[in-house]
Amino acid sequence: MKGIILAGGSGTRLYPITKVYSKQLATIYDKPLIYYPLSILMLGGIKEILIISNDETIPLYQKLFGNGNHLGLQISYAVQDAPNGIAESFLIGEAFIGDDSVTLILGDNIFYGKLNYLYNALEEQNSGATIFAYRVKDPERYGIVQFDKEGNALSIEEKPKQPKSNFAVPGLYIYDNQVIEITKNLKPSARGELEITDVNKVYLSNKKLKVQMIGRGVAWLDTGTPEALLQASNFFGVIEDRQGLKVACLEEIAFKKGFINRTELENLIDEIPNSIYKSYLIKVLEE
Ligand code: DAU
Repeated sequence: MKGIILAGGSGTRLYPITKVYSKQLATIYDKPLIYYPLSILMLGGIKEILIISNDETIPLYQKLFGNGNHLGLQISYAVQDAPNGIAESFLIGEAFIGDDSVTLILGDNIFYGKLNYLYNALEEQNSGATIFAYRVKDPERYGIVQFDKEGNALSIEEKPKQPKSNFAVPGLYIYDNQVIEITKNLKPSARGELEITDVNKVYLSNKKLKVQMIGRGVAWLDTGTPEALLQASNFFGVIEDRQGLKVACLEEIAFKKGFINRTELENLIDEIPNSIYKSYLIKVLEE
């Protein structure tokens, strides 16, 4: 299983935060936003990861993560020339994906809580696609899935004006290798993008789409507005302060997942400047 983080886009809605750097580098409490989706791929056991962004931002991600080897990962980078759509990830990432399956996560999507829905989906993944559904109060802003009485997906629509349900499709998608061919056959939508919803529609009409519900005990947080960024920061501030544990601390995850050993974590800690983050990792080592 390969992993792709799509972390480009224009981010114009968050101007001037996004004038100098991309949205996925904005701060969520104590770390850059992109740490959260990267942590999800790592927790899913995915180690080969491609980060896609615009050419201005790639050097910044490279500065943050390098080749990822220090975290037991192999991170590579690719440029998306313009925001031509989420599904373009599979064309840009074609060589990277090779003959494998791929999990795509949007670089601005934050998930918090038990990850059983992801673990199960990754375990069961062989052919077809798995996407997720999460109840929201403002369905017109998302890809929306409609279910029949038995819980089978009936339709998927991108930002419908009259939504048929309140179940949004979060920016986390698991596909078999067919996704590359399917994307090659897509036509850009009216807004000129290769739509991820159109990819999902093809899987749905081929009866190859699983839609897994994510329950209300999980937080899928929005990062689309300044208010949403503040709310997400406050959310993680409260949780981290209460538990004394960090969310999306990549070094800790790499250690606990066995991607790096104790000595490698010690070496990593040596390189981190004196900070709360460093003290936290020392505590992780000691415990
Ligand atoms: O967040 C989940 C939603 O993401 C889904 O429910 C929708 O079906 C899906 O279309 C998408 O909707 P958004 O309106 O959030 O998409 P947006 O254009 O804002 O792009 C999402 C992120 O991906 C954003 O951080 C920018 C990045 N992006 C987007 C496009 C279109 C790219 O890096 N390149 C792109 O070409």
